[in-house]
Amino acid sequence: MSTPVTVAVVGATGAVGQVMLSILHERKFPVKKLIALASARSAGETIQFGDQQIVVQDLATFDPAGVDIALFSAGGSTSTQYAPKFAAAGAIVVDNSSAFRYDDDVPLVVSEVNPDAIANAPRGIIANPNCSTMQMLVALAPIHREVGIERINVATYQSVSGGGRSAVDELEKQSADLVAGRAADPQRFPVQIAFNLIPHIDDFQANGYTKEEMKLVWETRKILGDDSIQVNPTAVRVPVYYGHSEAVHIETRSKISVDRVRALLEAAPGVVVVDDRKSGGYPTPVTHAAGQDAVFVGRLREDISHPRGLDMWVVSDNIRKGAALNAVQIAELWLKNRP
Ligand code: A2P
Repeated sequence: MSTPVTVAVVGATGAVGQVMLSILHERKFPVKKLIALASARSAGETIQFGDQQIVVQDLATFDPAGVDIALFSAGGSTSTQYAPKFAAAGAIVVDNSSAFRYDDDVPLVVSEVNPDAIANAPRGIIANPNCSTMQMLVALAPIHREVGIERINVATYQSVSGGGRSAVDELEKQSADLVAGRAADPQRFPVQIAFNLIPHIDDFQANGYTKEEMKLVWETRKILGDDSIQVNPTAVRVPVYYGHSEAVHIETRSKISVDRVRALLEAAPGVVVVDDRKSGGYPTPVTHAAGQDAVFVGRLREDISHPRGLDMWVVSDNIRKGAALNAVQIAELWLKNRP
């Protein structure tokens, strides 16, 4: 058992921060002192950590001296401004935003895929990948290690909780309004999300892809350490509360049978194969993923349109493995390996 440490959760009142707190408690992370930080709006509120009530403090006026581990999930601009201050004060920062993910001197880590990368964090910052990349790579890394992946075509079906509490509230309100015969009033999303799909997450880029889509390209290459992998994503927001799904189509460097892929995935850490070829014999966000830690894989089949193609359906709780759980797993790895 490690010596207990002081842990700060930045964004402790948010969708991911709240789950970070419960996962730290569930996994019996050795916490000496838990510090909950958010904006001035929430300062003074209390939140639950196990059986303790913790008073939320204002990040802007907080002194990070004495913090050993800081888990950040309060958006990119908050991370850009405050993460380096925590690192300078001696903390290791695990950052859930995209602020540092693409910096060469910041490791980007999926705990099951490239845990060794945490050893090289000269700035005291380790980045947590985007939720869609996270679950896809937990499922694809074992196949990449075995035969190499040349190309990935992926369409995502991303739940609203990826957009934070306000996005969850908007789906709830619009659903109630529409069922009651009132008009939907889009505020958080560009168009109605209830009973609809939106093929747009994050900002549009010059190449016509969105930033959410390009995250899948950049992060896949960095985490697998292979810039030759081609990734072609479409990211879609769907009216699901918790759990992202992905239709993943890969082309491998050499041929691999679907039976071998099933065996690899059954043995892979963090993966649960749910693949009975019958009604209900596949994972969905509601029936399998929400509130669970694993990445669920189903609909495994060889692609009838390509000699080295494979198709699969990958589902996981975007707030847990896609964000809070992996951040805590990185913190656990860091504790285990620290000098
Ligand atoms: P607050 O509740 O005070 O706004 P979500 O992703 O669910 O929207 O949550 C975002 C989290 O980030 C919340 O805990 C929010 O705190 C926090 N946050 C947002 N902006 C800031 C900021 N400028 N300083 C500190 N915390 C912030």
